[in-house]
Amino acid sequence: MLKTAQIQFDPQVGELERNHSKVAELLTKTGDARLVILPELANSGYNFIDREHAFTLATTVEKSDYVAMLVETASKQNQYIVTGFHEKEGDELFNSSLLISPKGVIGKYRKIHLFMNEKQIFTKGNLGLPLFKLDDYKLGMLICFDYFFPEIWRIMALKGADIIAHPSNLVTFQAYKVVPAQAAINRFFIFTANRIGTERDISFSGRTFAVDPEGDVVAEASKDKEEILYTKIDPLKSRNKLITERNHVLDDRIPEEYLDITK
Ligand code: ACM
Repeated sequence: MLKTAQIQFDPQVGELERNHSKVAELLTKTGDARLVILPELANSGYNFIDREHAFTLATTVEKSDYVAMLVETASKQNQYIVTGFHEKEGDELFNSSLLISPKGVIGKYRKIHLFMNEKQIFTKGNLGLPLFKLDDYKLGMLICFDYFFPEIWRIMALKGADIIAHPSNLVTFQAYKVVPAQAAINRFFIFTANRIGTERDISFSGRTFAVDPEGDVVAEASKDKEEILYTKIDPLKSRNKLITERNHVLDDRIPEEYLDITK
């Protein structure tokens, strides 16, 4: 069994030290979870004034005090941590997600599908859709609006993902319908770690949730409270792709009928 903790809180845009200490404090309560998942852009906040503003708040993984704190915590608490991270590389900014193991940073994903103003701020992700090892399981990461694109969930399933960690800053309500459907279609676990609060004119919808391979929401947080949502799962349930004794959601696909998808 794998115990997970999704941290729902209210990062504030530009308040790097406050966000850092808030996450550090909340992490002290997650010591018995093997996997902790934080929201999108948890270190920086979301609603930047413009690209210049965003640029002043970004840093690299190597230079980030926030990442150093997570690495130390993951080692001390013997756990894995997924966090949204505001990342700078040269002149480019990426809306990223990191996977930190007890031994350090072992994975990175950069958001591919940029939402609204993000298009003026970030470069589209350029690391593909990698999976990473977490104990005996395979974990992939997607970030918020990525959820709207069924193709990428399916690619993750075909690569053998057991768990998708989904740091989010949701501002609309479709995810509560779409994400469980993707869990059921692909038969894996999804952990959407959302945030609460308001930044300038944007409010976020909370309701952090966890979904099992049947598409059932097995845990859900409130819409507006700081919370740590705990779940215990058997990730190996994701390996059963049969929905009847004769129907397998991956092996029953007929890719030659789907060629229009690449247009
Ligand atoms: C979003 O992608 N943050 C809505």
